[in-house]
Amino acid sequence: MSGLKLTEHYAIKDVADAYDQRLNFSQEVFDKIHDFCEANGSEFLLAVDVCCGPGNSTVIGFDVSEEQLAHAPKNLPNVQFQVANANDMSFLESNSVDLVTVAMALHWLDLERFYREVDRVLKPGGVLIIYNYSYYVRLSPPQAQKVHEHYSGLVLDRYYESYMDNVRDDYRRIALPYPGWKRNDDLNLEREFTLDGYLGYLNSISLYDRYSKEQNNTDFMADIYKAMEQALREAGMTSKDSLIKASWPLFMLMGQKPRT
Ligand SMILES: C[S@@+](CC[C@H](N)C(=O)[O-])C[C@H]1O[C@@H](n2cnc3c(N)ncnc32)[C@H](O)[C@@H]1O
Repeated sequence: MSGLKLTEHYAIKDVADAYDQRLNFSQEVFDKIHDFCEANGSEFLLAVDVCCGPGNSTVIGFDVSEEQLAHAPKNLPNVQFQVANANDMSFLESNSVDLVTVAMALHWLDLERFYREVDRVLKPGGVLIIYNYSYYVRLSPPQAQKVHEHYSGLVLDRYYESYMDNVRDDYRRIALPYPGWKRNDDLNLEREFTLDGYLGYLNSISLYDRYSKEQNNTDFMADIYKAMEQALREAGMTSKDSLIKASWPLFMLMGQKPRT
Protein backbone atom coordinates (compact mmCIF):
# COMPACT_ATOMS: atom_id res chain seq x y z
CA MET A 1 0.00 0.00 0.00
CA SER A 2 1.22 3.54 -0.63
CA GLY A 3 1.92 5.93 2.21
CA LEU A 4 -1.25 7.96 1.57
CA LYS A 5 -3.04 8.27 4.89
CA LEU A 6 -6.79 7.99 4.58
CA THR A 7 -7.52 11.39 6.03
CA GLU A 8 -4.98 12.94 3.64
CA HIS A 9 -7.24 11.74 0.87
CA TYR A 10 -9.70 14.50 1.77
CA ALA A 11 -6.95 17.11 1.48
CA ILE A 12 -6.59 16.43 -2.24
CA LYS A 13 -8.30 19.13 -4.27
CA ASP A 14 -9.66 16.69 -6.90
CA VAL A 15 -11.18 14.57 -4.18
CA ALA A 16 -12.81 17.58 -2.58
CA ASP A 17 -14.12 18.58 -6.03
CA ALA A 18 -15.44 15.05 -6.61
CA TYR A 19 -17.07 15.18 -3.20
CA ASP A 20 -19.68 17.51 -4.69
CA GLN A 21 -21.10 14.32 -6.29
CA ARG A 22 -21.76 12.80 -2.89
CA LEU A 23 -25.26 12.47 -1.50
CA ASN A 24 -27.03 15.15 0.43
CA PHE A 25 -28.99 13.88 3.37
CA SER A 26 -32.74 14.25 3.06
CA GLN A 27 -34.91 16.52 5.18
CA GLU A 28 -36.20 13.41 7.00
CA VAL A 29 -32.75 12.93 8.56
CA PHE A 30 -32.70 16.48 9.93
CA ASP A 31 -36.28 16.08 11.14
CA LYS A 32 -35.21 12.95 13.07
CA ILE A 33 -32.34 14.88 14.65
CA HIS A 34 -34.66 17.74 15.53
CA ASP A 35 -37.29 15.39 16.99
CA PHE A 36 -34.75 13.52 19.11
CA CYS A 37 -33.41 16.79 20.55
CA GLU A 38 -36.91 18.11 21.18
CA ALA A 39 -38.10 14.87 22.79
CA ASN A 40 -35.11 15.01 25.12
CA GLY A 41 -35.68 18.65 26.06
CA SER A 42 -32.45 19.87 24.53
CA GLU A 43 -31.92 23.52 23.56
CA PHE A 44 -31.04 24.66 20.05
CA LEU A 45 -28.42 27.31 20.77
CA LEU A 46 -25.23 25.76 19.46
CA ALA A 47 -24.83 22.75 17.17
CA VAL A 48 -21.44 21.49 16.01
CA ASP A 49 -21.01 19.33 12.94
CA VAL A 50 -17.80 17.34 13.31
CA CYS A 51 -15.95 16.31 10.11
CA CYS A 52 -18.43 18.50 8.22
CA GLY A 53 -16.82 17.92 4.80
CA PRO A 54 -18.22 20.53 2.42
CA GLY A 55 -20.95 21.43 4.95
CA ASN A 56 -23.90 19.22 4.12
CA SER A 57 -25.38 19.88 7.57
CA THR A 58 -24.01 22.46 9.96
CA VAL A 59 -24.05 25.39 12.40
CA ILE A 60 -20.41 25.37 13.44
CA GLY A 61 -18.85 22.93 11.05
CA PHE A 62 -15.27 21.83 11.34
CA ASP A 63 -13.14 19.51 9.34
CA VAL A 64 -9.47 18.67 9.28
CA SER A 65 -9.34 19.33 5.50
CA GLU A 66 -9.08 22.91 4.18
CA GLU A 67 -9.85 21.60 0.70
CA GLN A 68 -13.20 20.18 1.85
CA LEU A 69 -14.05 23.43 3.61
CA ALA A 70 -13.32 25.38 0.43
CA HIS A 71 -16.51 23.73 -0.89
CA ALA A 72 -18.63 24.74 2.10
CA PRO A 73 -21.38 27.28 1.38
CA LYS A 74 -20.39 30.92 1.97
CA ASN A 75 -22.20 33.63 3.91
CA LEU A 76 -24.91 31.53 5.52
CA PRO A 77 -26.40 33.32 8.52
CA ASN A 78 -25.46 31.67 11.85
CA VAL A 79 -23.17 29.17 10.18
CA GLN A 80 -19.41 29.12 10.41
CA PHE A 81 -16.78 26.68 9.18
CA GLN A 82 -13.28 26.13 10.42
CA VAL A 83 -10.33 23.78 10.23
CA ALA A 84 -9.92 21.62 13.33
CA ASN A 85 -9.29 18.05 14.39
CA ALA A 86 -12.11 16.10 16.01
CA ASN A 87 -9.71 14.63 18.53
CA ASP A 88 -9.00 18.10 19.95
CA MET A 89 -11.94 20.48 20.12
CA SER A 90 -10.16 22.99 22.34
CA PHE A 91 -11.68 25.86 20.33
CA LEU A 92 -14.99 24.95 21.99
CA GLU A 93 -15.68 25.76 25.63
CA SER A 94 -16.65 23.03 28.06
CA ASN A 95 -20.43 22.58 28.56
CA SER A 96 -21.23 24.93 25.68
CA VAL A 97 -22.76 22.79 22.91
CA ASP A 98 -26.35 21.50 22.58
CA LEU A 99 -25.86 19.12 19.69
CA VAL A 100 -22.84 17.35 18.21
CA THR A 101 -23.35 15.56 14.88
CA VAL A 102 -20.99 13.42 12.83
CA ALA A 103 -22.03 12.21 9.39
CA MET A 104 -20.08 9.58 7.46
CA ALA A 105 -16.90 10.07 9.45
CA LEU A 106 -16.86 8.41 12.88
CA HIS A 107 -14.76 5.54 11.54
CA TRP A 108 -11.90 7.98 10.89
CA LEU A 109 -11.73 9.13 14.49
CA ASP A 110 -9.93 8.01 17.61
CA LEU A 111 -13.13 7.09 19.45
CA GLU A 112 -11.74 7.34 22.94
CA ARG A 113 -10.33 10.86 22.45
CA PHE A 114 -13.33 11.99 20.44
CA TYR A 115 -15.86 10.79 23.03
CA ARG A 116 -13.84 12.46 25.78
CA GLU A 117 -13.99 15.74 23.86
CA VAL A 118 -17.70 15.35 23.08
CA ASP A 119 -18.45 14.80 26.74
CA ARG A 120 -16.42 17.87 27.67
CA VAL A 121 -18.07 20.25 25.16
CA LEU A 122 -21.69 19.03 25.45
CA LYS A 123 -23.92 20.73 27.98
CA PRO A 124 -25.61 18.35 30.44
CA GLY A 125 -28.63 17.08 28.46
CA GLY A 126 -26.84 17.83 25.16
CA VAL A 127 -27.21 15.37 22.31
CA LEU A 128 -24.72 13.36 20.23
CA ILE A 129 -25.94 12.03 16.86
CA ILE A 130 -23.92 9.92 14.46
CA TYR A 131 -25.50 9.25 11.08
CA ASN A 132 -24.40 7.44 7.95
CA TYR A 133 -25.82 5.95 4.87
CA SER A 134 -24.65 2.40 4.39
CA TYR A 135 -21.75 1.44 2.14
CA TYR A 136 -24.12 -1.16 0.71
CA VAL A 137 -26.12 0.68 -1.90
CA ARG A 138 -28.82 -1.27 -3.80
CA LEU A 139 -28.91 -0.44 -7.51
CA SER A 140 -31.65 -1.10 -10.00
CA PRO A 141 -31.67 -2.63 -12.60
CA PRO A 142 -30.17 -5.83 -11.07
CA GLN A 143 -27.55 -5.98 -13.85
CA ALA A 144 -26.16 -2.70 -12.52
CA GLN A 145 -26.15 -4.10 -8.98
CA LYS A 146 -24.06 -7.05 -10.13
CA VAL A 147 -21.41 -4.81 -11.68
CA HIS A 148 -21.36 -2.59 -8.62
CA GLU A 149 -20.92 -5.56 -6.27
CA HIS A 150 -18.06 -6.90 -8.35
CA TYR A 151 -16.01 -3.69 -8.32
CA SER A 152 -16.86 -2.62 -4.79
CA GLY A 153 -15.85 -6.14 -3.66
CA LEU A 154 -12.44 -5.71 -5.34
CA VAL A 155 -11.89 -2.39 -3.62
CA LEU A 156 -13.08 -3.52 -0.20
CA ASP A 157 -11.04 -6.73 -0.27
CA ARG A 158 -7.91 -4.83 -1.26
CA TYR A 159 -8.13 -2.42 1.66
CA TYR A 160 -9.22 -4.59 4.47
CA GLU A 161 -8.24 -2.64 7.59
CA SER A 162 -9.72 -2.80 11.02
CA TYR A 163 -11.54 0.52 10.69
CA MET A 164 -13.36 -0.98 7.68
CA ASP A 165 -15.06 -3.49 9.96
CA ASN A 166 -17.15 -0.63 11.26
CA VAL A 167 -18.03 0.50 7.74
CA ARG A 168 -18.77 -3.03 6.60
CA ASP A 169 -21.14 -3.78 9.45
CA ASP A 170 -22.83 -0.37 9.43
CA TYR A 171 -21.39 0.59 12.85
CA ARG A 172 -23.18 -2.29 14.59
CA ARG A 173 -20.32 -2.68 17.04
CA ILE A 174 -20.10 1.01 17.86
CA ALA A 175 -21.78 2.17 21.05
CA LEU A 176 -22.38 5.76 22.11
CA PRO A 177 -20.92 6.68 25.49
CA TYR A 178 -24.33 7.56 26.99
CA PRO A 179 -26.81 5.28 28.77
CA GLY A 180 -30.08 4.66 26.93
CA TRP A 181 -28.68 5.66 23.51
CA LYS A 182 -30.70 4.43 20.54
CA ARG A 183 -30.06 3.15 17.06
CA ASN A 184 -32.49 4.01 14.28
CA ASP A 185 -32.61 2.14 10.95
CA ASP A 186 -35.94 3.46 9.62
CA LEU A 187 -34.78 5.64 6.75
CA ASN A 188 -33.34 5.11 3.29
CA LEU A 189 -31.69 7.58 0.97
CA GLU A 190 -32.90 7.38 -2.62
CA ARG A 191 -31.23 8.83 -5.67
CA GLU A 192 -31.17 8.36 -9.43
CA PHE A 193 -27.90 8.52 -11.34
CA THR A 194 -26.99 8.80 -14.97
CA LEU A 195 -23.96 6.63 -15.71
CA ASP A 196 -21.71 9.72 -15.47
CA GLY A 197 -23.32 10.67 -12.17
CA TYR A 198 -22.71 7.16 -10.83
CA LEU A 199 -19.01 7.38 -11.76
CA GLY A 200 -18.82 10.81 -10.12
CA TYR A 201 -20.25 9.29 -6.96
CA LEU A 202 -17.67 6.48 -6.98
CA ASN A 203 -14.90 9.04 -7.49
CA SER A 204 -15.91 10.73 -4.26
CA ILE A 205 -15.32 7.51 -2.29
CA SER A 206 -11.77 7.51 -0.99
CA LEU A 207 -11.11 3.81 -1.52
CA TYR A 208 -11.90 3.87 -5.25
CA ASP A 209 -9.50 6.74 -5.81
CA ARG A 210 -6.86 4.96 -3.76
CA TYR A 211 -7.37 1.69 -5.60
CA SER A 212 -6.92 3.38 -9.00
CA LYS A 213 -3.75 5.16 -7.88
CA GLU A 214 -2.13 2.28 -6.05
CA GLN A 215 -2.77 -0.28 -8.75
CA ASN A 216 -1.22 2.19 -11.15
CA ASN A 217 -4.35 1.28 -13.02
CA THR A 218 -5.55 4.51 -14.52
CA ASP A 219 -8.17 2.53 -16.47
CA PHE A 220 -9.91 1.23 -13.36
CA MET A 221 -12.71 3.78 -13.46
CA ALA A 222 -12.96 3.39 -17.24
CA ASP A 223 -13.35 -0.38 -16.73
CA ILE A 224 -16.22 0.21 -14.35
CA TYR A 225 -17.78 2.62 -16.83
CA LYS A 226 -17.61 0.08 -19.64
CA ALA A 227 -18.95 -2.77 -17.52
CA MET A 228 -21.82 -0.62 -16.30
CA GLU A 229 -22.60 0.57 -19.83
CA GLN A 230 -22.80 -3.08 -20.92
CA ALA A 231 -25.03 -3.97 -17.93
CA LEU A 232 -27.42 -1.14 -18.78
CA ARG A 233 -27.54 -2.25 -22.41
CA GLU A 234 -28.44 -5.76 -21.23
CA ALA A 235 -31.24 -4.23 -19.16
CA GLY A 236 -32.54 -2.49 -22.30
CA MET A 237 -31.39 0.96 -21.12
CA THR A 238 -29.64 2.30 -24.17
CA SER A 239 -29.94 6.05 -23.72
CA LYS A 240 -27.05 8.03 -22.22
CA ASP A 241 -29.65 9.64 -19.95
CA SER A 242 -31.11 6.36 -18.63
CA LEU A 243 -31.33 6.51 -14.87
CA ILE A 244 -29.89 3.98 -12.45
CA LYS A 245 -31.95 3.90 -9.25
CA ALA A 246 -29.97 3.79 -6.02
CA SER A 247 -31.14 3.23 -2.45
CA TRP A 248 -28.96 3.32 0.67
CA PRO A 249 -30.10 2.16 4.10
CA LEU A 250 -29.51 4.99 6.54
CA PHE A 251 -28.65 4.49 10.19
CA MET A 252 -28.45 6.88 13.11
CA LEU A 253 -26.98 6.49 16.60
CA MET A 254 -28.54 8.96 19.01
CA GLY A 255 -27.64 9.62 22.63
CA GLN A 256 -27.92 12.23 25.33
CA LYS A 257 -25.35 13.32 27.90
CA PRO A 258 -26.91 12.76 31.34
CA ARG A 259 -28.19 15.94 32.98
CA THR A 260 -26.47 15.12 36.28
C1 LIG B 1 -16.73 10.95 4.29
S1 LIG B 1 -16.39 12.63 4.66
C2 LIG B 1 -17.92 13.16 5.43
C3 LIG B 1 -18.23 14.64 5.18
C4 LIG B 1 -19.63 15.12 5.60
N1 LIG B 1 -19.82 14.95 7.03
C5 LIG B 1 -20.72 14.42 4.82
O1 LIG B 1 -21.55 13.76 5.43
O2 LIG B 1 -20.74 14.54 3.60
C6 LIG B 1 -15.30 12.46 6.02
C7 LIG B 1 -14.72 13.82 6.47
O3 LIG B 1 -14.04 13.61 7.70
C8 LIG B 1 -12.95 14.52 7.74
N2 LIG B 1 -12.07 14.05 8.82
C9 LIG B 1 -11.42 12.87 8.90
N3 LIG B 1 -10.72 12.80 10.06
C10 LIG B 1 -10.96 13.96 10.74
C11 LIG B 1 -10.54 14.47 12.00
N4 LIG B 1 -9.72 13.77 12.80
N5 LIG B 1 -10.99 15.68 12.39
C12 LIG B 1 -11.82 16.41 11.59
N6 LIG B 1 -12.24 15.98 10.37
C13 LIG B 1 -11.81 14.77 9.95
C14 LIG B 1 -12.39 14.45 6.32
O4 LIG B 1 -11.58 15.55 6.01
C15 LIG B 1 -13.69 14.40 5.49
O5 LIG B 1 -14.11 15.70 5.10
